[in-house]
Amino acid sequence: MIDGALTLLTPGPAGTSERVRNALLRGDLCHREPEFADLLERIRVALPRCLNLGGTHETVLVTGSGTAAMEMALIGSVRRGRSALVVNNGVYGERLAKIAGVHGITCHEVRSEWTRPVDPAAVRAALAEHDDIDAVACVHHETTTGLINPIEEIGAATASAGEALFVVDAISGTGIEEPDLARVPADVICGTANKGLHGVPGVSFVLLGDRAVERVAEVPSRSLYLDAAPHLASQRRGEVAFTPAVQACYALDAAIAEYEEAGGFAARTRLYRERAALVRDQFDRLGLPILVAEPFRSSSVTMLRLPGGVSYRALHDELKTRGYVVYAGQGHLSGEYFRICTMGEIPRRRLKELERSLADAIAAVTR
Ligand SMILES: Cc1ncc(COP(=O)(O)O)c(C=O)c1O
Repeated sequence: MIDGALTLLTPGPAGTSERVRNALLRGDLCHREPEFADLLERIRVALPRCLNLGGTHETVLVTGSGTAAMEMALIGSVRRGRSALVVNNGVYGERLAKIAGVHGITCHEVRSEWTRPVDPAAVRAALAEHDDIDAVACVHHETTTGLINPIEEIGAATASAGEALFVVDAISGTGIEEPDLARVPADVICGTANKGLHGVPGVSFVLLGDRAVERVAEVPSRSLYLDAAPHLASQRRGEVAFTPAVQACYALDAAIAEYEEAGGFAARTRLYRERAALVRDQFDRLGLPILVAEPFRSSSVTMLRLPGGVSYRALHDELKTRGYVVYAGQGHLSGEYFRICTMGEIPRRRLKELERSLADAIAAVTR
């Protein structure tokens, strides 16, 4: 089966529309030309608008995957001699802590089981215990398990703690998962083009609130490529510091236009909730238990227990012959669980047909 005919049920890269794919062919463009400055400005203004952030945040566009945005966000938020507090209940919380470690930033952690959101009271207690915290970093949607963390409450706890910035990795939640970021007191928000916004991989972004704009200017540089302050300064002038992924920017521009024309955050979250209901009814009928309990589930990632005696690889390969690509579990859960994600452009017909293909694939691998 050729790749283009496959339905991706993965948490990125997410499937794209024909309009987004065609945008990649818009033609060659040098980033030093005024046409690129226009494109950059359009994207920088549109991203906070898409996320209902009004005029509160300013965009730094990053050429790189979501991890580049996480790294830029965290290292730009913590001053020398100060520390970070990472909320850790999955692979991406762990990654935030690793980023701190790589850069020699002292990192305190508040952990919970991977199937439970972190308790905001534990974050409040950690903030009271350590008076040197410059950034509380938390993953909005833990893609590891499909769990939504209580970022409104953790943000409120952070806001009441003085100088700490609230840094949100919203990479797999951007534009598709509640809570609406407009309700979250987030100083720094990381996102990417190729998940809920349905762009292509290659560009990500960091949105900075006022306090964060001041902070990144104050923090001494820890990286040549991922230092937010010079990127912000040059992007304000319509310039980019390094060669950007121009075609991925074209695609993001088209994806943003589609997102807004379809009704923005309200419409896309509704679409994702409808998809989740459709496929989760199927999982129920097929007897596939979901790891994360309601009300903590996201609408785009479902972590399912593998049927007894079935290996992920065998099930994956059977489903692929039927035109679906599913995703492995991560970390200590990978032997027993796998993920089906309803992220990106997916024809509804293909989601309706999933039940039959899953049933057939499970029968084929248990025969
Ligand atoms: C919540 C979250 N944060 C960060 C990342 C890292 O993004 P990337 O793989 O694009 O570097 C991912 C990727 O799936 C993610 O889901």
